[in-house]
Amino acid sequence: MTLKTLKIEAEKAIIGAQDLKGLNDVYKKYLGKEGELTRILRSLEKLPKAKRVKVGKETNNLKNVLTIKFDQRTQVLKEKAQQEAEEKEWIDVSAPGKRPVLGHLHPLTQVRRKIEEIFQTMGFAVVEGPEMETEWYHFDALNIPKNHPARDLWDTFYLRNGLLLRAQTSPVQIRYMEKNNPPLRIIAPGRCFRHEATDASHEHTFHQIEGLVVGRDISLANLKVVLESFMKRFFGEGVILRWQPSYFPFVEPGLELLMRCSVCQGKGCSTCGNSGWLEVIPCGMVHPNVFKAAGYNPKFWQGFAFGMGLDRLAMMKYKINDIRLFCSGDLRFLNQF
Ligand code: DAH
Repeated sequence: MTLKTLKIEAEKAIIGAQDLKGLNDVYKKYLGKEGELTRILRSLEKLPKAKRVKVGKETNNLKNVLTIKFDQRTQVLKEKAQQEAEEKEWIDVSAPGKRPVLGHLHPLTQVRRKIEEIFQTMGFAVVEGPEMETEWYHFDALNIPKNHPARDLWDTFYLRNGLLLRAQTSPVQIRYMEKNNPPLRIIAPGRCFRHEATDASHEHTFHQIEGLVVGRDISLANLKVVLESFMKRFFGEGVILRWQPSYFPFVEPGLELLMRCSVCQGKGCSTCGNSGWLEVIPCGMVHPNVFKAAGYNPKFWQGFAFGMGLDRLAMMKYKINDIRLFCSGDLRFLNQF
């Protein structure tokens, strides 16, 4: 290849390079250590002296010319690269922002907070107890001795470590009384577990809110007014209530507060088992044996206790017909709250 064609070819390549990387390749090819021009300069010594001087001079000239062209092209491409980068970084301050997806509290958390708020305004403190319990706190101390048939009322999960998963929040009553002196007013919300075949109204994991009031002269009248006030604040003044006797080992007498079914307005439907009424708050006056187990003198102190199902209350408030929806993770359900 003559120097002339080399010049034309190299100049074309320099102009043709579209970015710095491409230009660098061109540099290597012609001006680099292994490049065309270097190769020619190295082979000069093989030429006769006169020719060597002439070709050497021409080659060096060409090298200078190409170096200048190369520098110019480098400058142009650098500017071009910078301009492109700036264009990419350009921010349209008038473009609409991305709307972040906001979550919200789970309906059960919302309902629990609402219930806590209502009881707090009536002077109740909110306390907690463990989800793993001993048989003593869960049964014996609640007046359910070993081998008593009432133990079967709770489909309890027994653990290998000798403990059990609580099937009710009632043991928190004992735990709290052991550590605190009366008078007292507490509610204890929490998760409970039962070995249960799940269906629209039964879940193996659900939530209860226990309540306990102890004082010198607490009576059934106090129980009645506190729970009726709660129901009116939670469901609205129009809620229709009814009382009926019931049995729980840890209360005497035991009662049940019922509300007229909000789904069928009392006509009878599948939610209320066609009775028109729903049992919402089991309760009663604290049994003397429970006070004894907690270390209180039952001749001196009186009290009432109640335990409501948080999930059931939420279902009735929002007319939800399947308890399993709460933990289904189905956003179509959850987004409604
Ligand atoms: N712990 C009972 C249950 O889960 C509910 C209950 C009934 C709680 C009467 C009470 C009560 O505090 O007085 O079935």
